[in-house]
Amino acid sequence: MRTVSVQLGNRSYAIKIAPGLLDQLGRECARLKLGARCAIITDTNVGKRYAKTAFNSLATAGFSPSLIVVPAGETAKSLKTVQTCYDLLAEHRLERKSFIVALGGGVVGDLAGFVAATYLRGVAFVQVPTTLLAQVDSSVGGKVGVNLKAGKNLVGAFYQPRLVLCDLDTLNTLPVREYRAGLAEVIKYGIISDAKLFARLERDLPKLLRREPKTLAEVVARCCEIKAEVVGQDETEGGLRAILNFGHTIGHALEVISGYGKYLHGEAISIGQVAAAGLSQKISGLPTRDVLRIENLLQAACLPVDVRLNPARRKKLFAAMRLDKKVSGGEIKFVLAKRIGQVEFGCQIPAALVEQALNLQLSTIN
Ligand SMILES: NC(=O)c1ccc[n+]([C@@H]2O[C@H](COP(=O)([O-])OP(=O)(O)OC[C@H]3O[C@@H](n4cnc5c(N)ncnc54)[C@H](O)[C@@H]3O)[C@@H](O)[C@H]2O)c1
Ligand SMILES: [Zn+2]
Repeated sequence: MRTVSVQLGNRSYAIKIAPGLLDQLGRECARLKLGARCAIITDTNVGKRYAKTAFNSLATAGFSPSLIVVPAGETAKSLKTVQTCYDLLAEHRLERKSFIVALGGGVVGDLAGFVAATYLRGVAFVQVPTTLLAQVDSSVGGKVGVNLKAGKNLVGAFYQPRLVLCDLDTLNTLPVREYRAGLAEVIKYGIISDAKLFARLERDLPKLLRREPKTLAEVVARCCEIKAEVVGQDETEGGLRAILNFGHTIGHALEVISGYGKYLHGEAISIGQVAAAGLSQKISGLPTRDVLRIENLLQAACLPVDVRLNPARRKKLFAAMRLDKKVSGGEIKFVLAKRIGQVEFGCQIPAALVEQALNLQLSTIN
């Protein structure tokens, strides 16, 4: 088993990474000295495969679990589902010492984490991420929340889990498209902070696409280490944490204008990363060969790397980018790469320059 620790003073916690960890859930929770009553929050897809194992493991360790199953998909990340969860937690008489287990992908993690942060002004929670994206990204770092009609993740909190258990076996049932989308975040870690990881991904991509256990374990652990390091230095995104958004300004805008659903998040940020690499080449000196390596690796992972937009949609994309949370005073803030493994954040770039650079990048249908 690999263990990565997130250092946040008395809120520090461990991320444990190994196959077969779901069976150990009860034993691992027992070490945390929590109350007996707990609730597993999961979704329909994950619940039917893994809820029983999680439930039995907790019960065998002496806990009294209850199970809350929400619909699969992004729409479950809503205040309406939060309300349903609160009612069920009250029905099951969860107390201050009780805890919540988030069993699922990023949707379940963000939702259950937000419920845990707010129910009884906060109960403990444990993340058991079951998608590649959730294992390397969303389960680590304590950002929890739900969506509003007006936009994604507009209501939320910083609320750290007490433990993260990444059971690599659960990735075996993940649909291939979801798995590849997770690889976009994995590749991002190489670009933002680890040239060696990036080179390894170039070398070992076939193994990773086959979900070869040893490679997967090492790569997931390395990504968690990088995220843990960043979060340990900047928990609430005052500065450094912004580097995790490489490719996201453009990616998010693309998600918005496409209507959520056309692209998975990882697919949109794959395109966003290639565009950000192009912008980096023009503004922060990213060598051309690095731009090509980034594009080639994402493409080899079967991810989309460009998008054809007609002028009207291109206009919409830039408008969406200007509405992003990272904009201040009309200047769009970007994370730009200087070379693979090194980025700078908070780069204020006038919107006109961004449009000019990206017009060359995003192929256009007239
Ligand atoms: N909190 C953060 O820091 C953070 C970071 C990145 C993304 N996110 C959020 O994460 C969410 C996306 O997460 P996601 O990509 O994991 O999506 P998801 O949770 O919707 O999971 C994707 C799909 O895979 C299914 N699934 C999950 N695990 C499975 C398994 N092991 N086997 C079979 N099917 C499985 C789910 O039911 C769902 O249909 C978004 O809401 C995004 O905003 C949060
Ligand atoms: Zn992301």
